Amino acid sequence: MNPIPDDRFLTQLAPAQAAACQAFMMEFIAAGESEYGWLNEYLESPTFSAYLDYLELCAMGEYKPEIYVPQTTFFLSDPQGRLLGISRLRHRLNPSLEIEGGHIGYAVRPSARRQGCATRLLALVLGQARGIGLTRVLVTCDDDNTGSARTIEKNGGLLEDKRTSPHSSRLIRRYWIEQA
Ligand SMILES: CC(C)(COP(=O)(O)OP(=O)(O)OC[C@H]1O[C@@H](n2cnc3c(N)ncnc32)[C@H](O)[C@@H]1OP(=O)(O)O)[C@@H](O)C(=O)NCCC(=O)NCCS
Repeated sequence: MNPIPDDRFLTQLAPAQAAACQAFMMEFIAAGESEYGWLNEYLESPTFSAYLDYLELCAMGEYKPEIYVPQTTFFLSDPQGRLLGISRLRHRLNPSLEIEGGHIGYAVRPSARRQGCATRLLALVLGQARGIGLTRVLVTCDDDNTGSARTIEKNGGLLEDKRTSPHSSRLIRRYWIEQA
């Protein structure tokens, strides 16, 4: 029997998605999860257009290059245009990301969780990583974040070690995903 096709796809934000993006971001606030979704960057942008410009600068590595590596932001969308998850692909590591953050981070909106969104999102962003030549991808999560750890493992992540975050003092799981 053929598996049911997964029609959730990767998108980068366009001006027409202002309302969809707002709905996505506001859901984290409503759930009391302001720390996820890189929400601050959205809230601190005076307009949606400014937010898009900011994301573009990040992708080109032109936003505070002394601090940040180039990073591209993707969203997972359903066929109706509802944004389900956000992910950030960092094009290379720096000493901080080597410990915590890795190449790929993600968050799924609260109402879309436990439906395979993170698993699908990470799989698709891994494809993007391969496209920019990353054959060994580091993905990290808090030691007690079972959902994220499972997401990484289901995408082929092999646990290298656990390290203590110098920022939060939390224990961080570090997984590598090898791709041909
Ligand atoms: C962690 C997170 C990304 C998972 O997203 P999701 O779309 O619910 O994940 P999926 O539906 O793809 O589930 C992946 C696996 O994790 C499991 N899982 C998901 N959430 C879980 C939870 N809260 N507790 C235990 N297992 C969980 C699923 O059952 C599935 O495993 P299975 O196939 O063996 O059953 C989501 O809860 C989230 O956005 N959390 C806040 C932000 C965050 O923690 N981001 C990751 C930072 S490293």
